[in-house]
Amino acid sequence: MKGIILAGGAGTRLHPLTKVTSKQLLPVYNKPMIYYPLQTLLNAGIKDILIIIAPERSGDFLNLLGSGKEFGANFVYEVQEKPEGIAQALMIGKDFINGEKCALILGDNIYTDDFSEEIKAHNEGALIFVKNVPDPERFGVVEMDENGKVLSIEEKPENPKSNWAQTGLYVYDEAACDMAAMLNPSDRGEYEITDLHRLYLEKGLLKAQSVAGPWFDAGTFESLFEASSFIRSQSQS
Ligand code: G1P
Repeated sequence: MKGIILAGGAGTRLHPLTKVTSKQLLPVYNKPMIYYPLQTLLNAGIKDILIIIAPERSGDFLNLLGSGKEFGANFVYEVQEKPEGIAQALMIGKDFINGEKCALILGDNIYTDDFSEEIKAHNEGALIFVKNVPDPERFGVVEMDENGKVLSIEEKPENPKSNWAQTGLYVYDEAACDMAAMLNPSDRGEYEITDLHRLYLEKGLLKAQSVAGPWFDAGTFESLFEASSFIRSQSQS
């Protein structure tokens, strides 16, 4: 299975912290943010990893992460010219994925769970990881029945149908790139990952698994601080 870390974007919500560097390079306690999603992929035995970065910061990512040898992995880099949505990662990564299965993780998502079994066992459709949150309107919102079957998925709805947020780790079968190529940009001009997941849902091939441990989307001052203090408390216990 191939892995992709999406670490593009301008990180404007974190200005001035991100004026001269990328959000994904900021410290989360004692490591650069991107180390955490990278570790999530490495834990699942994924060794071929494409890192998608913003053009202005490409040198910094290369200086930090290099070839991947230090991590026992093999890194490939691509530039995302403009931040035009998460699903664009599957368009940029088409040649790299080369018709294999892949796991895509957002460079600012920090998990404490080990998803290696679910990732390794995945063989058909799309698998997303959901977390019960108090503010679902900030996220992709997943409605499920009592058996965890996905009924609907909506991007940042005004009236969320549930409190289940789609987090930033997605595992796909071999069809992902071809399906992503069918998407049109949304009203905010982005290729929405939620639209791709809706295509999988329409085929009856979207599965959701809940995240048991803490999860942070470290893209705001508050969540960045919370992630740092959580990691610090873990490393001292
Ligand atoms: C993106 C996705 C959203 C998902 C979130 C998880 O939102 O569009 O569906 O819930 O990541 O972090 P963004 O953070 O880019 O606004």
